[in-house]
Amino acid sequence: MFPPPPASDIDWTNVDLSLKIPVKGHVEARHNASTGTWSAPVLETNPNISISGISPALNYGQQCFEGMKAYRQTSGDIVIFRPEVHAARIAKSAAAVCLPPPPKDLFVECVRAAVAANAELVPPSSSNGALYIRPVLFGSSAQLALAPPEESILAVYVYPLLPYHGSAATDALVLEDFDRTAPFGTGPFKVGGNYAPVWKHAAAAKEKGYGITLHVDSATRTKIDEFSTSGFLGFKSDGSEKTLVVPLAENAVQSVTSASLTRIAELQGWTIQRDEVPLHTLSSIEEVVAVGTVAVVVPIRSISRLSTSEKFTFPGTSNPEKIESQLLGLARTLSDIARGNREDTEGWCWKV
Ligand code: COI
Repeated sequence: MFPPPPASDIDWTNVDLSLKIPVKGHVEARHNASTGTWSAPVLETNPNISISGISPALNYGQQCFEGMKAYRQTSGDIVIFRPEVHAARIAKSAAAVCLPPPPKDLFVECVRAAVAANAELVPPSSSNGALYIRPVLFGSSAQLALAPPEESILAVYVYPLLPYHGSAATDALVLEDFDRTAPFGTGPFKVGGNYAPVWKHAAAAKEKGYGITLHVDSATRTKIDEFSTSGFLGFKSDGSEKTLVVPLAENAVQSVTSASLTRIAELQGWTIQRDEVPLHTLSSIEEVVAVGTVAVVVPIRSISRLSTSEKFTFPGTSNPEKIESQLLGLARTLSDIARGNREDTEGWCWKV
């Protein structure tokens, strides 16, 4: 009977990122540039992929990736959240780094097959967990030339996950001595090269007590781009008018979680302020959250810019256990939709 219940030999209250839980396999499809065709998806049980050491993936960083989730609903059904939006996003990332964009139907088929093969690893609906889906696309054939590769591989991995940062509020630090990307660069795309250089800065910030780092635009270093792991959303109110603040940041990844929360806010009659967010305007913002597939929604207590000794604090997301936050309320609605406890009017949940 499909779907099977969650595996009974896993402690679903204590799943971490150690990747120790055995997974049934990942799904691969290969692209051949000579024929311009993709192979049919295949389930592979060995997580290791054999590729040439002089592949463009390993030498020139020619890769891109996605992150999405499959949820177990209260009814027991398993659904994938907005896979077609992730298909569109990986197609853009692929084109940005000269990889063949996977056709939407093939991408969704690979994702469905990977989830179906690992259905027992989709956490219980009562947990905060979900099955994280990590599609990665890279140039795999031997090649020194700076040109699109003969072979590329799309591989879709899965792993069960609980929220990455937990639900406690955290303090953020603006990164001032590091530019994540340049204007007109790779910022809007989900490519590995945007992430690895950040780790040492995030670790240094953590030593100073900051749980998350925030990138500003590299041209002027005054406007918000995104957090290192996730997107930025703010909230302010004026009487009964609720406003969602969404940075218009051309160099940030278009977060699917942010887009979903924005749509929910819109449906609930909020004003959507989609504009550049200069750091100094944070003083008028009451709540801030970091939102992403892995991060889910992280309440932000404060944002500090050390060079100017500024510290902006957000009372609405400083003490989420005690204060009812508007942004966390939006996130609960999203979770209710994903779990099947609220009508999915937008067609976001794709049943496996
Ligand atoms: C995700 O949230 O899916 C991501 O890809 C973020 C990851 C780089 C931490």
